[in-house]
Amino acid sequence: MVDASSPLGLYLHIPWCRARCGYCDFNTYVTDTTNPAETAPYVEALRREISLAAKTLGARWVRTVYVGGGTPSLLSPIDLSRLVSSIRRQFDLDDTAEISIEANPESLSLDWLSDVRDLGVNRLSLGMQSAVPKVLATLDRQHTPGRVVEAVDWARRAGFDNISLDLIYGTPGESMADWETSLVTALSLKPDHVSAYSLIVEPGTPLAKRVEAGELAAPDEDELADKYIQADRLLSTVGLNWYEVSNWARPGRECRHNLVYWRSGDWWGLGAGAHSHIDGTRWWNVKRPATYVGRLAQSGSPMQGQEILTKTERHEETVMLKLRLAEGISAAELGDEEWERAEPYIRSGHLVASGGRLICTLTGRLIADAIIRDLLADDVPQRLWRAPDVGSGSTGMSIDATVPIPPQWVEALQQAESADGQAG
Ligand SMILES: C[S@@+](CC[C@H](N)C(=O)[O-])C[C@H]1O[C@@H](n2cnc3c(N)ncnc32)[C@H](O)[C@@H]1O
Ligand code: SF4
Repeated sequence: MVDASSPLGLYLHIPWCRARCGYCDFNTYVTDTTNPAETAPYVEALRREISLAAKTLGARWVRTVYVGGGTPSLLSPIDLSRLVSSIRRQFDLDDTAEISIEANPESLSLDWLSDVRDLGVNRLSLGMQSAVPKVLATLDRQHTPGRVVEAVDWARRAGFDNISLDLIYGTPGESMADWETSLVTALSLKPDHVSAYSLIVEPGTPLAKRVEAGELAAPDEDELADKYIQADRLLSTVGLNWYEVSNWARPGRECRHNLVYWRSGDWWGLGAGAHSHIDGTRWWNVKRPATYVGRLAQSGSPMQGQEILTKTERHEETVMLKLRLAEGISAAELGDEEWERAEPYIRSGHLVASGGRLICTLTGRLIADAIIRDLLADDVPQRLWRAPDVGSGSTGMSIDATVPIPPQWVEALQQAESADGQAG
């Protein structure tokens, strides 16, 4: 039964990008405009869907809002203010809510960031991906490494004190030294949160075609494992702790919105192709922005399909999502046979049973998806939330846990930290 007092997350999808990155298969379309007259119909449709959600659910307490894409930083502050005020008017959204926005470095300015911060947006997720020009070029990114540094500086000046950086590792041609350069550059910007994803070669993308043609090498599993371990070491050295396989944060800066997904909470996804989940019912919207706008203009529903999860599917999803979290899964949520299947992994040091919970160790995180498949003795169900994992499909990966952190970088980071402390 739906608990109307339980908090709700809202996701708003902005389906445009200035250019398409060759690795990306998200529901996004190239545009060269940020003209509010052209974005207006889509923003109006989103406002109609906000009303639809409020009518359907009642004035529920919204604890998190996430504006993602695509490239939400292509939207004008006026468009964003329309969306935020619609939510405020129709839902219970107070000052304690986490309101995140994704942004691409090349589309940011100090003015835009200041205006958006003034609207109450309090968390910025910046697509940095790499600090190495040749890696950014292979990924078809539109920004230079320097632009990320500038954007973080503007964001701080605009009043953002909760900044996340997205990184990708395993790009063809990226050496371990390149990856360490990206990590150290990211950490020198003192992010509150880092997401580090292994590059997934998505079928049908230009990247996949280049890999199939032999023009680029597919990411190597052993190298991905070494890069993951190196990321975990460097990030934890500066106080960013893992809380989900691909996510690290300072204490208290974990992304509350993504935790709604990972804890199987309730969220309504608004916009073209967005997915929603309320109490075991999942649905998804039509993919094309024009169809989405058309449906809402006629006061129709943008929903394309829905499914009610069976008890087994809900359980599988809980195991799949919670085992990727540092808080792990409680004993009560696992069946006897699942515990039995977990035992070899506890003996091999991939899982640890602690305080009545089952949690992945570092080596366990490297093969998290394979462990989950074994525990469920089944195929891992379709992912609700995209969470690239270095370990997918391989239990036999060799792990070089001896990759050292370059000492000069640890020193450089510590010096930057103490200089900051003195300045502050
Ligand atoms: C879809 S993008 C949206 C945000 C923004 N447009 C950007 O590019 O930063 C969100 C994040 O998904 C990750 N991502 C997208 N496709 C990926 C892939 N094929 N493999 C790994 N990470 C991917 C990137 O790290 C990116 O920052
Ligand atoms: S990665 Fe980001 S900028 Fe690149 S195409 Fe995907 S959504 Fe757009």
